[in-house]
Amino acid sequence: MGETEVSNPFREDLVSRNLAETCSVVIFGATGDLTHRKLIPALYNLAVDGELPAGVKILGFARRDWTDEGFREGLEKLNREVSRTGHDEEIWESLAANVQFHQSEFQDEEGYRRLAERLDEIDRERGGKGNRLFYIASAPAFFDDILLNLKKAGLSQERPDCEGCWSRVIVEKPFGTTLATAQHLNEVVNGTFQEKDTYRIDHYLGKETAQNIMVLRFANAIFEPMWNKEHIDHVQITCAEHLGMEGGRGGYYDKAGALRDMVQNHLLQLLSLVAMEPPTDLTADGVRDEKVKVIRSLRQWDTPELVAENVVRGQYLKGNVNGEEVPGYREEDRVDPDSETESYVALRCMIDTWRWSGVPFYVRMGKRLPKKATEISIHFKETPSVLFNATPGGVPAGNVLVIRIQPDEGISLMMNSKLPGTTLRMEPVKMDFRYASSFGKSSPEAYERLLLDAMAGDATLFARRDEVEEAWRFIDKIHHAWAEEGKGIPIAEFPAGSWGPREAEEMLARDGRTWRRL
Ligand code: BG6
Repeated sequence: MGETEVSNPFREDLVSRNLAETCSVVIFGATGDLTHRKLIPALYNLAVDGELPAGVKILGFARRDWTDEGFREGLEKLNREVSRTGHDEEIWESLAANVQFHQSEFQDEEGYRRLAERLDEIDRERGGKGNRLFYIASAPAFFDDILLNLKKAGLSQERPDCEGCWSRVIVEKPFGTTLATAQHLNEVVNGTFQEKDTYRIDHYLGKETAQNIMVLRFANAIFEPMWNKEHIDHVQITCAEHLGMEGGRGGYYDKAGALRDMVQNHLLQLLSLVAMEPPTDLTADGVRDEKVKVIRSLRQWDTPELVAENVVRGQYLKGNVNGEEVPGYREEDRVDPDSETESYVALRCMIDTWRWSGVPFYVRMGKRLPKKATEISIHFKETPSVLFNATPGGVPAGNVLVIRIQPDEGISLMMNSKLPGTTLRMEPVKMDFRYASSFGKSSPEAYERLLLDAMAGDATLFARRDEVEEAWRFIDKIHHAWAEEGKGIPIAEFPAGSWGPREAEEMLARDGRTWRRL
């Protein structure tokens, strides 16, 4: 490797995977879906790719009275179903041999004392460093108890007997449900772990294409000079899901809604990656300093009038998704039949910075839309009104750069081309880059990258305290306007399987624009 490569911070980031250190991973809420469907398959796939540090032990902490054997069997069953790379018996067996179950109530101090003893024993057996990674994936009602008990058991502090050892915590979403609850949780987290050891997970940041946004912008000389109000007309961020409230999700979702569940975190994170200024370096704080400025610069929709103009909330009625008849939101399992919770939300965001003044960022998210797809599209301005753009009939479409986050990860650029033939006719054509065909292998799952980063001590792809709080500040005001008595902003209805309510189309039509068809 040449010297220039080593001194380039981005190259170092590429090899940071080698920096992951062995540790004990303690998962709180180990009997849940996230552990079975995401976390263990992620650790398994890291093992398949030879990236999981040797000696990693996994302890599932939960209330149910399960045995090690029973726990492993359940994990294996799910891994066979969902693992990205299939299921290799040998690799599974060697991973499973390092998986144990730790039964305890989350409030029971004694359970944490036993945990501390168990971890010490593992360290002695391993004969190596006593690093610990605590992953809080329980129901949010237990977050405080878990953190406080970790502290009481001495599991969160630096240990004088173990020089250079670390204890880190990953906190799952939802990170609060309002600004006040997020601030409270931050107090508890930071009263337990140092900020540098705190990893607030947002799995969208671990998605391969989300990571590629910075590369696209800052490793290609052609885009950045145009990445501003002079050349960009507007930006759209769409996260469509075809699923509804399967698997008993209605109970949680009906309290959360689309704005809290997806916009406060995933979609504002994507928006900040698209809109941020170039960071001074690629350190975790370098990047997060710039992202938080974007969220802080969002114009606040803080009156019912502004919210009515710039935010549409919707709910799906019964309908048909991919040929299947599905119930309406209010008929879903565990959803209040009079629910006012939004299963769909569309926002017009304005970022009041020099770069983005006057450029709307339209963001939408919905359950039970026609398909599962997340993409960001950058809509460039039209050419000047001369030559091909001189007559109203001949207006060429503006260029659109599309970043497909999922599925079919890739980037495409729509541009105008002359149709072959003797007359001059133009048609938009697509230059397309697809991960699958260019790199010939599937991208790692977000949780693979994020778990490895936490083991390597790299918090770049995790949300910092101020980012989370600024995002809640923005979201809270919209909720307050929705809740304000007598000024109820109606819920817009639409049939399941369609692209959302008419009101969302109208919001863009008022600006002379339309949503991109996915
Ligand atoms: C979760 C939300 O954070 O993200 C879910 O709680 C949503 O409601 C999910 O379905 C989407 O994640 P992905 O990776 O499938 O797009």
